[in-house]
Amino acid sequence: MAFNIKDYIRDVQDFPKEGVGFKDITPLLNNHDAMMSTVKELITLLGDKKVDRVVGMESRGFFFGTLLAAELGVGFVPVRKPGKLPFDKISQEYALEYGTDMLEMHADAIKPGELVLIHDDVLATGGTAEAVCKLVERLGGKIVQLNFLMELSFLHGREKLKGYDVQSIVSY
Ligand code: PRP
Ligand code: MG
Repeated sequence: MAFNIKDYIRDVQDFPKEGVGFKDITPLLNNHDAMMSTVKELITLLGDKKVDRVVGMESRGFFFGTLLAAELGVGFVPVRKPGKLPFDKISQEYALEYGTDMLEMHADAIKPGELVLIHDDVLATGGTAEAVCKLVERLGGKIVQLNFLMELSFLHGREKLKGYDVQSIVSY
């Protein structure tokens, strides 16, 4: 039977808080065939675009971000939550529903002109992805695509990412 990623994404109601429907990807990670089929689908989304580096955001962007980098034969760059990276870094603030948050990347992680693929598990409001785009571009990276396992289309995250190639395997 054809692989359908939705079969491996578990809906958990009221997590992390009342009224939220959480998309749990641990069943996908738990199954080797499903995990490798997912990597293949992400590679298909990329098409023949050239990539020098994959950037993935803490923490759920690390899972498939590193697998993708391994498959593409390029390096992986972690974007981390504040205070986690030990070396010289740049920071980017972004807005949450209430208040702000911050993401950080090592200043030597990307060289000017490098072609960058950004990966995360979920595109929701797009705030996280938008902040990562800014970090990459501040270091002179050229974003060739942002890809996601899934997109919560009712949150309109794409509107924050106009002008970029935004791809996801499935949409809810
Ligand atoms: C979730 C998800 C994306 C982000 C999407 O991460 O993994 O990274 O939210 O939301 P946005 O499009 O509204 O910015 P979360 O901050 O929950 O952390 P985690 O990956 O460490 O679980
Ligand atoms: Mg995340």
